Amino acid sequence: MVKLGVNIDHVATIREARKTFEPDPVQAAVLCEKAGADGIVCHLRKDRRHINDDDLNELKKSVTTRLNMEMSTDEEIVRIACRVKPHQATLVPENRQEVTTEGGLDVAGNFDRIKEVVGRLSSEGIDVSLFIDPEKEQVESSVKTRAKIVEFHTGRYAEKFNAKGAYQKELEAIEAMVKFGIEEGLLVSAGHGLNYFNTKPVAGIKDIYELNIGHSIISKSVFTGITNAVKQMKELI
Ligand code: PXP
Repeated sequence: MVKLGVNIDHVATIREARKTFEPDPVQAAVLCEKAGADGIVCHLRKDRRHINDDDLNELKKSVTTRLNMEMSTDEEIVRIACRVKPHQATLVPENRQEVTTEGGLDVAGNFDRIKEVVGRLSSEGIDVSLFIDPEKEQVESSVKTRAKIVEFHTGRYAEKFNAKGAYQKELEAIEAMVKFGIEEGLLVSAGHGLNYFNTKPVAGIKDIYELNIGHSIISKSVFTGITNAVKQMKELI
């Protein structure tokens, strides 16, 4: 069965809108797990715009499924990850001006640094995933870094689907790269921009390991509560 990782960053985004103590992303993580989430995802950004260091420490203590920390290869953040030791670290590109992660990592173009960070995290017992576009060159470079997992950026697919455009080509590209990644010995996940309308075709891709979904689940939870929002997404995938 396809696993669901719930990204709880935007619970912290609401808290940071007032720089106060609520809503608490750690409490959100507990409720997501109770509702059936297979893992909790959070992104410790360099600018700490949502999740902060205390959140990460508390999540490490309280998450009972798997904690997947999204992170850049920035040295300060790498050191924090090596100290906190989440179950998984997902390396993502990060740029201060972006509203959200805009594209996949260029593993081929930043190979030496990415390989070094994969090695350091792996030696701490952390499973490492690389967030990449569904492109053969990126999968091949990812294999060479010795990462165990790749997560395909589904943003282009999601945008086309949402705009009622021709999304089939994007879906086929993801499908083909999932197959290729598995043949290369990787676990293959996907995420970004997935919602209650566009997730089903991606969840239907053969042997896909996990979907990581944040914004849409937290958005729905404003109206239905986080427990219902997670349960609905679990049922859907
Ligand atoms: N996967 C990765 C690697 C991400 O960076 C993000 C966004 O933080 C997600 C999944 C979730 O994306 P969304 O919030 O659009 O569901």
